[in-house]
Amino acid sequence: MPADPAAPVPALDSLLAADPATLSGATPAPPATLVIFGAGGDLTKRLLMPAIYNLAAAKLLDDGFLVIGVDRLDGDDEWFRVRQTETITSFVSDRSTRGATMDEAAWAWLRQRLTYVQGDLQDPRTYQAINWRLNDGAQAHGNGSAVFYLAIADRFFGPVIDHLAAEQLLREAPDMFRRLVIEKPFGHDLVSAHALNRRILKVMDERQVFRIDHFLGKETVQNIMALRFSNGIFEPLWQRDHIDHVQITAAETVGVESRARFYEVTGALRDMVPNHLFQLLAMTAMEPPNSFSADAVRTEKAKVIDAIHPLTEAQAVESVVRGQYAPGRLHDQALRGYREEPGVAADSATETYVALKLFIDNWRWAGVPFYLRTGKRLNTRKTEIAIQFKQAPYALFRDTPVAGLTPNILTLHIQPHEGASLQFSAKVPGPVVHLGGVEMQFRYADYFGASNNTGYETLLYDVFIGDNTLFQRADNIEAGWRAVQPVLDAWAAGRGEVHPYPAGTAGPLPAERLLARDGRHWRTLT
Ligand code: BG6
Repeated sequence: MPADPAAPVPALDSLLAADPATLSGATPAPPATLVIFGAGGDLTKRLLMPAIYNLAAAKLLDDGFLVIGVDRLDGDDEWFRVRQTETITSFVSDRSTRGATMDEAAWAWLRQRLTYVQGDLQDPRTYQAINWRLNDGAQAHGNGSAVFYLAIADRFFGPVIDHLAAEQLLREAPDMFRRLVIEKPFGHDLVSAHALNRRILKVMDERQVFRIDHFLGKETVQNIMALRFSNGIFEPLWQRDHIDHVQITAAETVGVESRARFYEVTGALRDMVPNHLFQLLAMTAMEPPNSFSADAVRTEKAKVIDAIHPLTEAQAVESVVRGQYAPGRLHDQALRGYREEPGVAADSATETYVALKLFIDNWRWAGVPFYLRTGKRLNTRKTEIAIQFKQAPYALFRDTPVAGLTPNILTLHIQPHEGASLQFSAKVPGPVVHLGGVEMQFRYADYFGASNNTGYETLLYDVFIGDNTLFQRADNIEAGWRAVQPVLDAWAAGRGEVHPYPAGTAGPLPAERLLARDGRHWRTLT
């Protein structure tokens, strides 16, 4: 439909900050050049550029800020600027109804700072060209600091890092930092993750490395620490004497989309568990750090992941359920099965769903099961952590018509609606004692407004200011892989069936049995 010229100025996509002030309260980051490998790719388009724009609009970038986009596609600076302008403005014209109008001045400011280097990632000349550009930038803006962002397929991580090192691009000097941002997947098992860490740490210091887990850019994930450690009421209850079990869910309605090439060799376990779900688990289960310094926080997170009870060969099968979506329906729409998706093998055994039961071997959590599940093409999109407390003694109600007590559950809602809720029992009004389950709700949006951002703003800003707190340290990554390795080994040995589930449902039935065996059940997804 042609745009109506009389219509109000269309609103920006929800990825763009409605109110840049929500990102403010911080001082501008020091000057630096952001070198994006994979500048023509989807991540740059969907997340990085909108995030950089939001930071520019919030005035959190220094005047000396520059972007060097690197990709194989033919093009020059002007081509890159036009392309990025089209992307940003398409968010304005195509989609959402909430958010702000485009900040033209901020975009103009950013646009002129976009430059482009066309080159092959395996060709040393690409890195020479980057080096010249960095030197030009350093002369023009007194800014030799650089952040190298690997928004590329993981098979290029090692080679790009080696080339950066060979061209001396990772060398720092007083007042000049050189940092590396690396996306997932970080390895595909313990051995490969360890090898990649060694390759990186041979040429640079851990402090220079920022391994991104985009879940840590989500406000509610960061808020778990605030909730736990800035309130007196939760922490005394936050342990085995009071908690019955914890459920961590990351349910998606999307299927594999256009990512079959990646997903076929990855699957739900590798894609979501050692990284995103374990981050949620770590935030929930970690001990209070001595301070909020990056290393204090990351040490506590590594400790708790390390304390996950190693699954025996038998447990790697009994305590883990994998599934794959079959044809189904959601909201009256017919959905094809995973094996019918473009690029997926007709006999694929890749799991699109995984549920697992884990224990944490430490004083606080001994004996408390943590149930984790994630899947694609489920009946709802929901990410949450539910902490179920132990039941109150029933004795007092035994002579009343009360059938059972509502369990107390504290739920941390990560998405789509950010917030927290507490479920408890209350008396239903009337002469007879009946109990009903009620809920107290806190929604972020009610208190702080909708936060329209990509989740990458904080992470990028932290890279520029050199704060690694929200990034994974080498040992965090390896601890995650170590915990899931027995499952990968069991599956590689052909153990553990892949259970089909109709797309648009809550997942395979054996996942229900995993909890039913313990006298528990999953929270309903819808
Ligand atoms: C990515 C996975 O890391 O996280 C995807 O590769 C998944 O498969 C995505 O869909 C989920 O992230 P979010 O922020 O949409 O919950």
